[in-house]
Amino acid sequence: MDVSTTLARLGNAAASFLNGKHQLFIDGKFVDAKSGKTFDVFEPASGQMVAKVAAADAADVDLAVNAARRAFEEGPWSKMIPSQRAKLINKLADLVEDNAEELAQIESLDNGKPVTFARMIDIGGTVDMLRYMAGWCQRINGETITPSIPGDWHVYTLREPVGVVGQIVPWNFPLAMASWKIGPALAAGCTIVLKPAEQTPLSAIRLAQLIAEAEFPPGVINVLPGLGETAGAAIAAHPGVDKVAFTGSTEVGKLIVRAAAGNLKKVSLELGGKSPVVVFPDVDMQAAIPGAANAIFFNTGQVCTAGSRLYAHKKVFDQLVEGVVGVAKNIKVGVGLDPATQIGPLVSDEQLFRVTGYIAAGQKEGAKVAVGGKRIGEDGYFVQPTILTDTNPSMSVVREEIFGPVICAMPFDDNDLDRIAREANATSYGLAASIWTSNFGVAHKMAKRIKAGSVWINTHNMVDPAVPFGGYKQSGWGREMGHQAIELYTETKSVFASL
Ligand code: NAI
Ligand code: MG
Repeated sequence: MDVSTTLARLGNAAASFLNGKHQLFIDGKFVDAKSGKTFDVFEPASGQMVAKVAAADAADVDLAVNAARRAFEEGPWSKMIPSQRAKLINKLADLVEDNAEELAQIESLDNGKPVTFARMIDIGGTVDMLRYMAGWCQRINGETITPSIPGDWHVYTLREPVGVVGQIVPWNFPLAMASWKIGPALAAGCTIVLKPAEQTPLSAIRLAQLIAEAEFPPGVINVLPGLGETAGAAIAAHPGVDKVAFTGSTEVGKLIVRAAAGNLKKVSLELGGKSPVVVFPDVDMQAAIPGAANAIFFNTGQVCTAGSRLYAHKKVFDQLVEGVVGVAKNIKVGVGLDPATQIGPLVSDEQLFRVTGYIAAGQKEGAKVAVGGKRIGEDGYFVQPTILTDTNPSMSVVREEIFGPVICAMPFDDNDLDRIAREANATSYGLAASIWTSNFGVAHKMAKRIKAGSVWINTHNMVDPAVPFGGYKQSGWGREMGHQAIELYTETKSVFASL
């Protein structure tokens, strides 16, 4: 497959963006990296290069942090009333909506995902998130408190923006992840240095152009494409950054925690997962089969909450596996910009080798391939939707995050909810889980027993801007979305006035 197949499907707006310059956005201006360095961006369906992007490093991070500091302490942003901040965030949401088709095509080209999903989930989700968070601007308040100290007092709290925030996002939902980060930070009144992933920097660069068009004051949002080990590490370590927010691998999450120790910047983390899909024997199979399939195949399995461990009662196990195998065989895998495509390639050659490496390791340790298991073609990063059976908890495919369309299916023969939950919880992660049953007593009892930030009943991968999202255990620190997201970006100040 040649990259021209994909490029031919781009509309004029996306094509003209792709042919333009791809620079850093610092203090309201588009600039090259100080070093003059760039990095290459590859189209996942062909593995061919489609753009060169300015590569920020520590020197550019320094400039961006200084710009963000000035905007925070002295700029018009610091004096802006909440309703004006809301107006700007809503304006950005409108611009994203006005340019939705172009952004969806850019996202599909860069990440490989089906353009149909990019439209609905990535771009639609970004608009929703920005609008929801704009609504928070005028709702961030402290409280008055009655102390027990003798005397006459007026005691109250103020909620103030935490300051300059560094935000490092991954490549699986590039623009949407950026919106989860900048939305609440802007609502709280913070200023931002945002780093998109090196695999998928394009939509963030287009977002920077829309930020300029919306006329945010210079320095409020700086966008720095660059490599993780250089730009990302510099943000995490910078003494002028008050808080760092990260979504990505657990491994890098731990590096960020260490780097943040220098100035004890606040840290929030949304990391990996190994989420169980627990299916009880009384389940509605018509819902459970497509549900379990979508839980793992959506976005080619590159979802932190992907349902990667399928635990089904032995009464329904064979039927369920057979059903999911049927779905896997009929899924249309292809180029993201083809409207008929249901799942695209993986994002990069690195991820292709990681995912196929896990499948091979699983087979070596005794797992059986019920369907899939192989790379598709020789160009691009396509892999077959895959189901592994005969797996056990000692295998790396069961323990570790694969981040591909690979599910490990395991039967259980038990009616004791505590024991079932113990198996579902037997992972170092705790991001999400789904429970499939017609018995709502069982469903809610299981929901209490699962150690994860999100539990879904007869559904999977549901998120909403109003609903907190984040992880137990090694899946992270803090909750994004809902009012919890505002808490991540504000400090509480207590004021005691002796009257
Ligand atoms: P990664 O954690 O290396 O990349 C995520 C972001 O962190 C990117 O913006 C990257 O540039 C940045 N980064 C990398 N090294 C850094 C460092 N030393 N300091 C600061 N920032 C740094 O993830 P990667 O390598 O792309 O994927 C590896 C695995 O991570 C995947 O197979 C998957 O298991 C997991 N992952 C989980 C995600 C999630 O949504 N929770 C998203 C992406 C990856
Ligand atoms: Mg990495």
